[in-house]
Amino acid sequence: MKDGREILSSIIASQIEMHKPFGGVVPELASREHLEKIRPIVDEALRTAGVTIGDINAIAVTQGPGLIGSLLVGVCYAKALAFGLGVPLIGVNHIEGHVFSVIFENPDVEYPALALVVSGGHTNLFFVPEPGSYKVISRTRDDAAGEAFDKVAKMLGLEYPGGPEIERVAREGDASKIKFTRAKISDGRPDFSFSGLKTAVSKHLRENNIQPVSDGLPLTQEIKDLAASFQKSVVDALVGTAKSQAENLHARTLVVAGGVASNSALREACQRAGQQLEIPVYFPSRHLSTDNAAMIAAAGYFHILRGELSDLHMTADVSMRLQNLENQDAQLRDSKVRYKL
Ligand code: KG4
Ligand code: ZN
Repeated sequence: MKDGREILSSIIASQIEMHKPFGGVVPELASREHLEKIRPIVDEALRTAGVTIGDINAIAVTQGPGLIGSLLVGVCYAKALAFGLGVPLIGVNHIEGHVFSVIFENPDVEYPALALVVSGGHTNLFFVPEPGSYKVISRTRDDAAGEAFDKVAKMLGLEYPGGPEIERVAREGDASKIKFTRAKISDGRPDFSFSGLKTAVSKHLRENNIQPVSDGLPLTQEIKDLAASFQKSVVDALVGTAKSQAENLHARTLVVAGGVASNSALREACQRAGQQLEIPVYFPSRHLSTDNAAMIAAAGYFHILRGELSDLHMTADVSMRLQNLENQDAQLRDSKVRYKL
């Protein structure tokens, strides 16, 4: 990435085909594959960008959250590169990378913003009073939204990753066919919960004796309706909460990022919510929705400019949190308050 704005190359070594037979990511296989791919991928990225390793001024790497084996491969390689080249190193939070996948392409994003990050591992709403400052407003109590898509897809006999498959099948389904009740969080926090929905889908399959999709057989209308109704349920929960929180916190922008942000039903519902609240809604370009290194470089560039560097003692952090604003609930209500790190 050049100057934090221009992507010179974006190379993604997808492991989807390798994990497909298992219906999800197998951590052991993932880290082994990372180890094998990291050198050729870095070489290819440099070649495609038309630069040499000597042209690199700084290295950004995903520090966490994620799977330890995979994170360690990246972190160790990045540390060695930074040390060898004598350039700054910055460990980036993966979720912040998703937020930057949107804001680096949209310099007009106005603050405070509300960021909805929905991926295979995370479902969060962040209040973002200015770039680089985050307060968690909502989290999931159980499954992440993407995880729910993947698990329900598996129940329906669809392939991994389930999100794009459910979206495809749902296009021909009637989303109003099955009414799933929205999870209620008893302590009143604006959190999400998707495991009850997953159980409700499983119960519906069983009680109505619906057969999962199998090779060679045409998709039944029941499966299409179920996929559409499930998708609507997830979208309603995400967008309902995002909308009410954007309103409460006087957000001037809604930013939606992460793998699930490529879902068209979610995009449309977010756009509608934005129109009702009269605030703009920003998404990543499709190629930046799912995991990629460009978003990590964009976030890294931002921190490097602020002198927020990592040293060589930095290590992978599987449960790295993204929240540097704590206990400021009272101030949060005043959208004019500006925060400093
Ligand atoms: O951000 P991401 O690439 O990886 C993580 O950091 O987890 O997100 C992957 C997740 C998977 O669970 C996948 O099923 C989901 O994003 N996903 C989708 C769609 N495309 C990917 N979910 C719903 N609709 C989609 N079109
Ligand atoms: Zn991700």
